Amino acid sequence: MPVPDPALVVLVGASGSGKSTWASSRYRAAEVVSSDALREVVGSGEHDLDASADAFALLESVVSARVGRRLTTVVDTLGTDPARRRRWLTAARDAGLPAVAVVLDTPARVCRSRNAARDRPVPARVLTSQLAAVATTTDLLDAEGWDAVLVLTPDDVPAAGPRNTP
Ligand code: CTP
Ligand code: MG
Repeated sequence: MPVPDPALVVLVGASGSGKSTWASSRYRAAEVVSSDALREVVGSGEHDLDASADAFALLESVVSARVGRRLTTVVDTLGTDPARRRRWLTAARDAGLPAVAVVLDTPARVCRSRNAARDRPVPARVLTSQLAAVATTTDLLDAEGWDAVLVLTPDDVPAAGPRNTP
């Protein structure tokens, strides 16, 4: 299913599910607002969890400014916080921008093996809780009022090419 453009696109997926890979294969770097990238901007790196609050404050500001201008905005976070999703959806509605949720429905074993191959793997128990949160979120999305909910499998995400977001 094609994603409208311009649109607000909210990614939902565990670490290693392919969110950033999918986003960078379809969107310009400036269109992707990534909590990991913003942690790197205001913290010591994309994994600096102490910088999360500052990074998410910036993320909200960037999303609000871009959506208010009806610019395509891809929100690259886990996507599992219902209050944040509601805020972004409301901002898109207020701006008259279509709002789409994109779930990276990647099997747990694929996320785990990709995660294990990374320089800074997420701890196994953290990944387990992310996978559970994504499953819960998937059940909630249909009732939230998105213009479309797109569920992607690994076949829909091209193998990683040049990356412009973490
Ligand atoms: N990857 C892959 N083949 C794909 C998609 C992703 O090999 N079809 C690899 C990427 O190169 C990367 C890893 O899987 O090393 C995780 O992909 P990424 O897009 O970074 O996942 P995210 O969901 O963005 O993970 P995070 O939440 O940790 O940012
Ligand atoms: Mg990512």
